[in-house]
Amino acid sequence: MLPSEPVVAIVGATGAVGEEMLSILAQRRFPMQSVKLLASKRSAGSVVDFRGRRLLVEELTEDSFDGVHLALFSAGKTVSKQYCPIAVQAGALVVDNSSCFRMDPAVPLVVPEVNGHVLDRITKPCIIANPNCSTIIALVAVTPLHRAVGVERMVVSTYQAASGAGAAAMKELETQAREFVAGFPYTTKIFGRQYLFNVFSHNSAVGEDGYNEEEKKLLNETRKMWEDNAVRITATCVRVPTLRAHCESINLTFRGSLKEADARDILAMAPGVKIVDDRTANKFPEPIDAAGGDDVLIGRIRADLSQAPGKGIDLFVAGDQLRKGAAQNAIQIAERFVRVKAAV
Ligand code: A2P
Repeated sequence: MLPSEPVVAIVGATGAVGEEMLSILAQRRFPMQSVKLLASKRSAGSVVDFRGRRLLVEELTEDSFDGVHLALFSAGKTVSKQYCPIAVQAGALVVDNSSCFRMDPAVPLVVPEVNGHVLDRITKPCIIANPNCSTIIALVAVTPLHRAVGVERMVVSTYQAASGAGAAAMKELETQAREFVAGFPYTTKIFGRQYLFNVFSHNSAVGEDGYNEEEKKLLNETRKMWEDNAVRITATCVRVPTLRAHCESINLTFRGSLKEADARDILAMAPGVKIVDDRTANKFPEPIDAAGGDDVLIGRIRADLSQAPGKGIDLFVAGDQLRKGAAQNAIQIAERFVRVKAAV
């Protein structure tokens, strides 16, 4: 459906995820004719370096998608709601990183390692949704075990980095570090509180049932991608003062039975993961090791002693929120279409 060298647009190109999209397109040598950088009026006219060339950032308008074959969106829900349909109408395949269309039954929600087969059904320009970052990172690790014996229940506790709240949140964390050293009062524009040396409940809205939106995304998006409404999931999502990689503690209860050694073997063979599980050296997944990398790191792999033998496993994972949690996943989705065309 895409030409072998599409015209690509990045909507939100000046944001944390948008910048990462551009750098991953270059790193992975994504075949393209040209790339168009779109952002708000505020950034129009600014210049970005790309493969040795200087690209101008343009203001997003309704005409921005003329001639565009592939549009990667990461400018928030409001922008996606208005402009994704316009991009499709103009003939572009859209990969949207916002939560706007994720639960729409007509919109595929895809992590290639989890349910990439869904992409085979797409034959014309449409919107494909990129899941929430915490869901992507958890499911890259857990899906191979789910395929093997079926996950009956999953309990997730997240340790989420600043990047999930955008470039301004990353900048504010760095600013607070400088303010701490200088003895200045903290700038608290993004979260309304001290972030440095602190941990607090995720900044998404809390519903009447006490769960915040991030926690609900883990439940709803997992069920959609696994096509399994019976799986039981509970989550506690928390911000920690790290810059760009999320960690998650994941406790699983299985429908079938799985020994720890077999879980290790399955995970060692799984795509998109790297095992970091050295008990002697006390070396397990850490956000600074995951940052900038492609893989979800998995460690602390152990049988859950609170469950019957073979019924439960504990994991601790770390994944780069900007890459696998957002930009990289979107580009992996797009690569499927370029390769399909190239192979014809
Ligand atoms: P801008 O830099 O011009 O504000 P982040 O998630 O890191 O906060 O980035 C959000 C991205 O979405 C930025 O590139 C931002 O552009 C872009 N953006 C925000 N609002 C709009 C809008 N109304 N139209 C186009 N782009 C927008």
